[in-house]
Amino acid sequence: MGVRFKGWGIAVPDRIVTNDELTKTLDTSDAWITERSGIKERRIGGSARTLGALAAQRALDDAGYKPKDIDFIVLATTSPDRMLPATSCLIADDIGLTCPAMDLNAACSGFMYAVRAAQGLLETGNKRILVIGAEHLSRWVDWTDRNTAVLLADGAGATVLEYDPDINDVLSFSLGADGSAADLLTCEHGGFIQMDGKEVFRRAVRVVVESAEKAMFDADIKAEDLGIVIPHQANIRIIQAAMKRLGIEMERAVVVLDRYGNTSSASIPLAFEDARQNGRIKIGEYALLTGFGAGMTWASSIVRWS
Ligand code: ACO
Repeated sequence: MGVRFKGWGIAVPDRIVTNDELTKTLDTSDAWITERSGIKERRIGGSARTLGALAAQRALDDAGYKPKDIDFIVLATTSPDRMLPATSCLIADDIGLTCPAMDLNAACSGFMYAVRAAQGLLETGNKRILVIGAEHLSRWVDWTDRNTAVLLADGAGATVLEYDPDINDVLSFSLGADGSAADLLTCEHGGFIQMDGKEVFRRAVRVVVESAEKAMFDADIKAEDLGIVIPHQANIRIIQAAMKRLGIEMERAVVVLDRYGNTSSASIPLAFEDARQNGRIKIGEYALLTGFGAGMTWASSIVRWS
């Protein structure tokens, strides 16, 4: 059976926080943040609920669907509004839905895990799944910790994944999780996000490359067949290192982290929408979507846009 991406939508807070603004309260500099991460500014504000609902409504509008057309909501988030209920239920209410709704936490791999879960839900008889990645990471950042405060940000993106008997956009998936690396990137209840950046960096490049190679093998394509790569937006140097090891020119990677920072589950749809707005999504072309994050988790998928 096939699944197709049907509309996309994104939402980011209005408030832009530049690197220079961060230097007023943190011992850091625009030069350090730009050189070590590629980030120039980020959006801060809203909540997983408000940003997620806006992105979801825009995805529905883009697909030309009404809320009643949706059978299930899967929300990927690391930063839900509350412990209970699931933020997906709050979003469902905001956009006028009473279909099943659940949250999924796979950190920065969350959006790709949600697409994978939606694919499974379509295989069991659902027709259309609303897949959302929404984050309010700024709520869980210690704004006196320069290790994390310069990187993490807020945003949301959504798509509608639809059953199609004839066409299949999602050709392969390679996912994994290694809980022995849990303490490298963690947030206790009521605490702040803490990270061993250097070790996360090292492992991130490895899991992105390995999972991307496996996804390409399973889809029976080679790196040179890819039209575009939409990677999780954590650090420009992670993207550069992974692209180099995969033998793919950097020009084929979509980069939006300079404007949005690391928005975890929202970063892949934010990058997709930017590519689409700039005419970089071409019908019939192969794309690699790849993410990694706390857990550690990772997820790569080969997609062909129909
Ligand atoms: N400004 C200025 N100096 C800084 C800053 C800062 N914001 N942060 C750290 N430094 C200092 C360090 O203290 C260190 O100083 P020292 O040499 O005197 O000890 C020096 O800069 C170098 O620090 P490193 O950690 O070695 O810098 P590195 O080049 O590794 O870059 C970074 C750090 C940007 C965090 C990088 O390691 C990285 O991006 N790692 C991956 C992060 C990531 O992908 N996280 C995923 C999150 S996904 C999720 O699930 C939410």
